[in-house]
Amino acid sequence: MTNDDRAPGTGAPRGWREATEAALYGPDGFYRGPGGPAAHFRTSVHASPLYASAVARLLCRVDEALGHPEEVSFVDMGAGRGELTTALLAALPADVAARVRAYAVERAERPVGLDPRIAWLPAPPAGVTGLLFANEWLDNVPVDVAEVDGDGTARRVLVRDDGTEVLGGPVEGPDAAWLARWWPLDAEPGLRAEIGRPRDEAWAAAVATLTRGLAVAVDYAHDRRSRPPFGTLTGFRAGRETAPVPDGGCDITAHVALDACAGEGAALLTQRAALGALGVSGGRPPLSLASEDPAAYVRALTRAGEAAELIAPGGLGDFRWLLQPVGVPEGTALLVDVADHEEE
Ligand SMILES: C[S@@+](CC[C@H](N)C(=O)[O-])C[C@H]1O[C@@H](n2cnc3c(N)ncnc32)[C@H](O)[C@@H]1O
Repeated sequence: MTNDDRAPGTGAPRGWREATEAALYGPDGFYRGPGGPAAHFRTSVHASPLYASAVARLLCRVDEALGHPEEVSFVDMGAGRGELTTALLAALPADVAARVRAYAVERAERPVGLDPRIAWLPAPPAGVTGLLFANEWLDNVPVDVAEVDGDGTARRVLVRDDGTEVLGGPVEGPDAAWLARWWPLDAEPGLRAEIGRPRDEAWAAAVATLTRGLAVAVDYAHDRRSRPPFGTLTGFRAGRETAPVPDGGCDITAHVALDACAGEGAALLTQRAALGALGVSGGRPPLSLASEDPAAYVRALTRAGEAAELIAPGGLGDFRWLLQPVGVPEGTALLVDVADHEEE
């Protein structure tokens, strides 16, 4: 598509990265609004407390690998309204809970009434030892978009506030180098890619705040074998997927090239595999329990349904976990019995 094919729109066109930054995090940005992410969509954190319990078990394994230090940190990167950290503190065994320092890192304001044990910060604390966990953070780190024009050149896509697009100049410099390495575009007009360089940098900076421990990013992801030909940039408005419009009224998100974020020693697993290794399974309780203890049977059935949602193929189970160890044995070694689960 060339510039001339695009419908005229309103506002000055700018790159998707800049437009998304303003739309999500500006003074009236989507993530500044009341209710937080949970008011608009459902993450694994909202789906079930089983998720926080599994992350609590992972923190215990990190604590063990670190030799049970006097203080072990949990850093919730892109914490929403602190739901994961709150549930994790409730799920930790007393001996670990007594030594944990909990940090929620968020661009939105601290929610009223949040557990006072949770420190609320705009950036991850430097020099900590423990587990840094980023659930659906990186897909909200704004990126630019490239599109191949009629001559086969990859150009930066510019967008107006109403969502209409025009093509800008050719992609050059570090962004062109990133595309060449991680998401090469054939000279076929219309092909698109999200330029993941800001996410690689954001992730590397977050990992660098750990002195020792494990950093985990969980997200919708693709890798070099499975890049979507037209990208995945999309919007969510009032719980429904919609066209991405950078007007502050909807989420703007794109799947993450997690293989590009991975540093030395990192491992990539599906959420299904990672949660399986942390003891979450969707198995139904035995029918005999229904007659022995009907209330326990109903509770177990509810848990099984929630677990099934967290590990469902085609759904949350297809999310990827990027495990990045820092000064501890391989990330996957912190998940028991992963030999059968690991993908790469
Ligand atoms: C999709 S929500 C996920 C919330 C939560 N982790 C969950 O899984 O329910 C992404 C969150 O990341 C936050 N965020 C984005 N960039 C951030 C940054 N650089 N530092 C801190 N928080 C950030 C957003 O404000 C938003 O609340």
